[in-house]
Amino acid sequence: MTEINPGDFKILVTGGAGYIGSHTVVELQKQGFPVVIVDNLSNSRDFVVDRIAEITGVAPEFHRFDLADRDKTAGFFASHPDLKAVIHFAAFKAVGESMGEPLKYYLNNLDALLNVLQGMRAAGVENLVFSSSCTVYGQPDDLPVRETSPVKDAWSPYANTKQMSEQIIRFTSSSFGLRAIALRYFNPVGAHETARIGELPLGIPNNLTPFITQTAAGLHECLKVFGDDYPTPDGTAIRDYIHVTDLARAHIAAVRRMFDGRSASDFEVFNVGTGNGYSVKEVIQSFERVSGKKLPVDIVSRRPGDIVQVWADTSLANRELCWEAEKTLDEMMLSAWEWQQSLSNQ
Ligand code: UD1
Repeated sequence: MTEINPGDFKILVTGGAGYIGSHTVVELQKQGFPVVIVDNLSNSRDFVVDRIAEITGVAPEFHRFDLADRDKTAGFFASHPDLKAVIHFAAFKAVGESMGEPLKYYLNNLDALLNVLQGMRAAGVENLVFSSSCTVYGQPDDLPVRETSPVKDAWSPYANTKQMSEQIIRFTSSSFGLRAIALRYFNPVGAHETARIGELPLGIPNNLTPFITQTAAGLHECLKVFGDDYPTPDGTAIRDYIHVTDLARAHIAAVRRMFDGRSASDFEVFNVGTGNGYSVKEVIQSFERVSGKKLPVDIVSRRPGDIVQVWADTSLANRELCWEAEKTLDEMMLSAWEWQQSLSNQ
């Protein structure tokens, strides 16, 4: 494998103050890559950038603006001719909200992507990592789901923006010498081991882990389990939960693949999960084990739009990206709990 000098490869991380973005910036800086963050802080806070500096000892360059603003994005790329890659996270991600406000999702997620691609073309930036989701598979017919499994009709505008974005990147990459890798995330959970960065859900969280940790912290009366009548061993739905730090490392593996010239084609797709499926009940048990707290739980009806079960075949990512998830479910839950406690103590 060619050894590149990371210091020569400046990387733009859009949405770098967000949940997955901030953990990715930490891992990039730990490996010596110079990072520029663009984030409008619509779902994050400016102290995250200071915390990244605190963890890594390096303050990333930070610009606050909305990538859906075409002129500002064009201006940014014109003033940054030395970028070697973009990792594009900046997007809205709440499935439920996207059902109520589809245009907000299409406008934001697609405009930002198109403006970034235009900027990359104008500035001659040739490498892109795109933040995609296992949601593109819907409920797969066969498990574990592989990258070659069919992309099903989207169940939400959010999922649809991920599918459309992958298509836009696929066609764009063949037109102007762009290399791109879409990473299809399974369920990212947990927080940095320092408990200085983590997920910052605005309002009442929709996702399982922040709801669990907030319930344990006394912010909610009980955790609602959405359905225990699924055709699974314990009746609750199954997902492939992955520690956010493992997920962050996959992005560094992806940019290195492109920088090393190891891409097998202009547009590649990889599943990023652990390959293990855990039920909602198993996640709760893991949390209770590591936190020593008993969660008040209420079984309610299924949540509309939820699939029964999904977990990843990660063999392609393991082999081609030379990457593997390392952290266990217990480690995911413990770090999420430590993060919640640090938030409560602020
Ligand atoms: C969804 C999206 C995923 C997206 C993610 C982040 C789909 C299929 N998946 O994941 O693409 O990246 O949100 O926004 O659209 N649960 C409870 N009680 C709760 C919360 C959740 O029982 O209070 C259950 C859910 O029913 C589900 C599991 O926990 O079975 C995980 O839910 P969640 O964390 O919301 O993630 P997904 O819906 O899998």
